[in-house]
Amino acid sequence: MSPVHRELLVERDRFEITKNYTYLNHASRGPLSPPAREIIKTVADEMLTVHPSQIKGMREGFAQARQSMADLINAPVTSVGLVPNTSSGIAMAAGSLPIERGDNIICAQGEFPANIYPWMNLTFRGVEVRLLDRNPNGISVDQVREAMDERTKVVALSWIGFADGARIDTAAIGGLCAEKKVFFVLDAIQGVGAMRVDLADIDVLVSGSGKWSLSPQGGGFVYLSPMLLENLHPDRVGWLSMTPNCELDDFSNLVDYRFTLAEDARRVETGSNSLLTQFALGASCRYLYDLGKRKIEERIIALCDYLVTGLRSRGYSITTPVDSPLRSGIVAFRVDEPAATVERLLERKIILSAREGSLRVGLHFYNTTEDIDRLLEEL
Ligand SMILES: Cc1ncc(COP(=O)(O)O)c(C=O)c1O
Repeated sequence: MSPVHRELLVERDRFEITKNYTYLNHASRGPLSPPAREIIKTVADEMLTVHPSQIKGMREGFAQARQSMADLINAPVTSVGLVPNTSSGIAMAAGSLPIERGDNIICAQGEFPANIYPWMNLTFRGVEVRLLDRNPNGISVDQVREAMDERTKVVALSWIGFADGARIDTAAIGGLCAEKKVFFVLDAIQGVGAMRVDLADIDVLVSGSGKWSLSPQGGGFVYLSPMLLENLHPDRVGWLSMTPNCELDDFSNLVDYRFTLAEDARRVETGSNSLLTQFALGASCRYLYDLGKRKIEERIIALCDYLVTGLRSRGYSITTPVDSPLRSGIVAFRVDEPAATVERLLERKIILSAREGSLRVGLHFYNTTEDIDRLLEEL
């Protein structure tokens, strides 16, 4: 085992779920990271005992959380705003980007519906949604190019397909969008915390908590490109979207209503954010950042390769395009009865999921080859 892998594996014992299960389900839900649990416990204890406005780090906590999320995706903190889940971030983009009757949006078949319905909602105002067919490698830049015309306003895709684990070429698709002056919106929840993202030419990136980012569900963030930071007027605002009221900074003048949107991405935040969830998401992002994004990505891919080799030698048909240079933490493969197999494996304390006719494994850095051997034996 390489020193990098050994270094990361030191953390495994801190994931207590590994004592009870062979946990291979990060594409569905991730367990809490140790620092996420720690911060939730600390804040929960303080909520019992301390006057709310005195809760330690309450004001700084959200700023730190945003900073950690920004660092994990290599963005300036000013470009990151908190949202309660992926769907609401995408709905904000769908409602706020300058899309008019007669325009069209390019989405893809086989996507998780969080990145479909907010766009379909625009069809009621005369906007067309074009669904690209999914190919065995996911979605290609050529497909996007062919579907585009002069009325295309947005390309909205998942970075990594929730069911097949196929990763899109964000550089190529983003480059095309930039060339054609089309907005590129990325649902990144299946990658943030596992893979490194290159933000070049991404206009809006949205990620929810709860999966690879090892935090509870019900949190998330939006990244806005520098151009949108200049121009985006959100379709929904609240008291926390404004400056200087942002984040309880100033209670002295709440009723002196001046509609001055925050200059940074906090303008997408409307009202009070979830203290526990966003703090936990921030703590996990910091933890993953400190462990090393490249190391985590490389370890996950090595584990996926180990699983793929084992599956191939046993004759399974793999539905994830694992021979592509664009990899993810998901490996999906065909079995006769996916749902029944999930139930049978659950009885053996192996946790994974069934999606779109395949079994779906989501491996994180603290998984081991022994976890994978166990799965292969019990299949
Ligand atoms: C690609 C993708 N987007 C979004 C979500 C979840 O959306 P939300 O955070 O709004 O619940 C999932 C959950 O499985 C997903 O796989």
